[in-house]
Amino acid sequence: MPGHYKRVVNYLRISVTDRCNFRCVYCMPPQGAKWLDHKEILTYEEILRLITVFGREGITKIRLTGGEPLVRAGLADFIRGIKEIGIIDDISLTTNGSLLPPLAQALKAAGLHRVNISLDTVNPASFSRITTCGRLEDTLRGIESALAAELHPVKLNVVMTDALQETDLAYFNKLVYRHPIAVRFIEYMPIGGNGIGSGADTAAVKRLLSTVAGSQTLGPAGNIKGNGPAKYYQFPRTRGTFGFITPLSDHFCGECNRLRLTADGMLRPCLLANREVDVKTPLRSGASDRELAMLFHEAVKAKPQGHSLCRASGYPDFKRRMSQIGG
Ligand code: GTP
Ligand code: 5AD
Ligand code: SF4
Repeated sequence: MPGHYKRVVNYLRISVTDRCNFRCVYCMPPQGAKWLDHKEILTYEEILRLITVFGREGITKIRLTGGEPLVRAGLADFIRGIKEIGIIDDISLTTNGSLLPPLAQALKAAGLHRVNISLDTVNPASFSRITTCGRLEDTLRGIESALAAELHPVKLNVVMTDALQETDLAYFNKLVYRHPIAVRFIEYMPIGGNGIGSGADTAAVKRLLSTVAGSQTLGPAGNIKGNGPAKYYQFPRTRGTFGFITPLSDHFCGECNRLRLTADGMLRPCLLANREVDVKTPLRSGASDRELAMLFHEAVKAKPQGHSLCRASGYPDFKRRMSQIGG
């Protein structure tokens, strides 16, 4: 679906729940966020109807997000339902990994292609500080289960906080030698919580990676399956890659190919803008496929040319937190 500014919108990020078993400091305020009422949340049947309609309008890639998507029961059957629609050629999941071990094989069998897992540090104490209620060992087991279930390419999301140390970079460097994993470093966006301290920025992480890799130089990496904004690099002879997601230092809005569907049924044209298009109310009051398709096009048209984090006038007052959008 060609949108404004010649961007093709083919990627839908669907938040299946706003709930989470972690409370990462960059994603939620310390007191947590108020959960949506169950009746506010779209049912899987409602989401499948929307995917069917939006699929006809050009959506071919779907990412399931949260909160933490694995806290919602029935996800494997829902994924099977997406596959049965027959239009979506890439189904992926963003998760904190902690609940993945018993589910990974079943999700793969249902039709999930790949997972992105958050792992900001491999220091157990720092991990617990950043996630507030997470345990490093649970997420590491989640990563192992994703590799064992061949949910390839497995990608790790590392938000650059003060928890990220040289020892972490040395660990990630070893990891990409051994496994076809993509480790992605993400610039913090001020839309969730804060408390990230002042950590290394993108340029410093690139420099430190070179140091831990014995002064090798990062070169561009080949094609990594994905629909998002990361740019990939690698050292010679590694199986995996490093990626950088730079919404602040080098924003990627010009290539933005996505819409978001919130758990409570709003189409969100841009992660970093408050504007939303209500699809739940029409859906629940008998809207036709054509009417739903028109709402999809309204959201595509409402995509701004770029986000507002670089404006000198300061950040907008975001109405939702990261955990309520799904990143
Ligand atoms: P791939 O298909 O694997 O490339 O997925 P992805 O990188 O799109 O998904 P993921 O959920 O892993 O997101 C990684 C990071 O990119 C998160 O911090 C997201 O918030 C951020 N991100 C994804 N899409 C956008 C976007 O449109 N704008 C901004 N500013 N950040 C985004
Ligand atoms: N800034 C950047 N990335 C964030 N994420 C969550 N909150 C933020 C933030 N404030 C990332 C997490 C998760 C993905 C959905 O979004 O790493 O993997
Ligand atoms: Fe939960 Fe993910 Fe947000 Fe952390 S980043 S609080 S794991 S939704």
